[in-house]
Amino acid sequence: MATNDKQRVLSGMRPTGALHLGHYHGVLKNWLALQQEYECFFFVADWHALTTEYDDPSIIEKNVWDMIIDWLAVGINPGSAKIFIQSRIPEHAELYLLLSMMTPLSWLERVPSYKDQQEKLSNKDLTTYGFLGYPLLQIADIIIYKAAHVPVGEDQVAHVELAREVARRFNHLYGREADFEKNVETAIKKMGKKNAALYHELRRSYQEQGEGQALEKARALLESQQNISIGDRERLSGYLDGSGKAIFPMPSALLTTHSKMMGLDGQKMSKSYGNTISLREKPAIVEEKIKTMLTDPARVRRNDPGDPAKCPVWNLHQVYSDPDLKNWVMAGCTTAKIGCLDCKKTLTDLILKEQAPIRERANDYISEPETVRAIINESCEVARDIARETLKEVRSVMGLDYR
Ligand code: TRP
Ligand code: SF4
Repeated sequence: MATNDKQRVLSGMRPTGALHLGHYHGVLKNWLALQQEYECFFFVADWHALTTEYDDPSIIEKNVWDMIIDWLAVGINPGSAKIFIQSRIPEHAELYLLLSMMTPLSWLERVPSYKDQQEKLSNKDLTTYGFLGYPLLQIADIIIYKAAHVPVGEDQVAHVELAREVARRFNHLYGREADFEKNVETAIKKMGKKNAALYHELRRSYQEQGEGQALEKARALLESQQNISIGDRERLSGYLDGSGKAIFPMPSALLTTHSKMMGLDGQKMSKSYGNTISLREKPAIVEEKIKTMLTDPARVRRNDPGDPAKCPVWNLHQVYSDPDLKNWVMAGCTTAKIGCLDCKKTLTDLILKEQAPIRERANDYISEPETVRAIINESCEVARDIARETLKEVRSVMGLDYR
């Protein structure tokens, strides 16, 4: 597929420090799959980190680079996916400001994460303007790239839904682009004579005779065009049904299919519960952490049988072990044929095996900070070009391009 045939995917992560196995199995593996199929943009949401870390922003820098190294180390491929840093693209802030003028306060107050997080992080004063605006900044992040899909966890779905509302409101208020007809003509020419004629004919059959099939054929024709950009495709699609070209297409949430990974204590793996194994944890620490995990309390002695359902080690076997190994654990645990240390050893080995290549690649990047910077610089430029284009269009439809 040619690059501009691929739909665009965008996602961001706040730089909260070294990533852990929960991030890997819950998020990054999903990104790895997406980068094969879509035009992907993954960015470090460093301004978002400020909404909660405004009292000590000095930790953000280290977290940013640690996270980027983790992404690269697991195999996010800068040749296909673009990896960039939010604050390097000031247009995000400009769009955020412009959107803030037309976003009703109640839309933001109603976002579930607003009150939830304030309660959860009650040790911080989050009654700030920036914290209320968090979802709107995220919305600017998404629509500035006209992303079609936004892979997020369940807690973020409401933000993507709100992005649709905000995009719709913007489109409604500022309507179609100024030079719509002219741009349509230019776009049609790019398809070549034969296809252009076919497009015109199908459009006429649809608009004059209401032939639904003609509309479908015309849409398929647009899909198959290699030479037209995403923007032109939207124009030509809008021109078909008379709706014009919406400035912002509607993004949709792409729910991560991987289930939540459990931590060392059987709760969801999360830094705030202190139950994580980090992606680049030292092997000796991994061993130690698994060794000291609590198991089914019924197994006091080696020959007491246990129940894996009551054991957090078993949860991790779900992620790491093949059916044979799981059968071995199940049978061995319930009949006391294996000890917990045997059971844990097999798990430790699998985790270490998964981490070895990641650790090795991370070390390569750590020893070459210039390479990492070059990768980021290049991606930032690609992202910035797109963001600049969008802002040009936004200023133009709002009548703000007097300069
Ligand atoms: N709010 C997201 C989180 O906490 C991070 C984020 C910021 C994001 N901007 C985004 C995710 C844009 C997807 C798209 O995980
Ligand atoms: Fe848990 Fe394994 Fe021990 Fe059973 S044998 S209690 S599954 S650690």
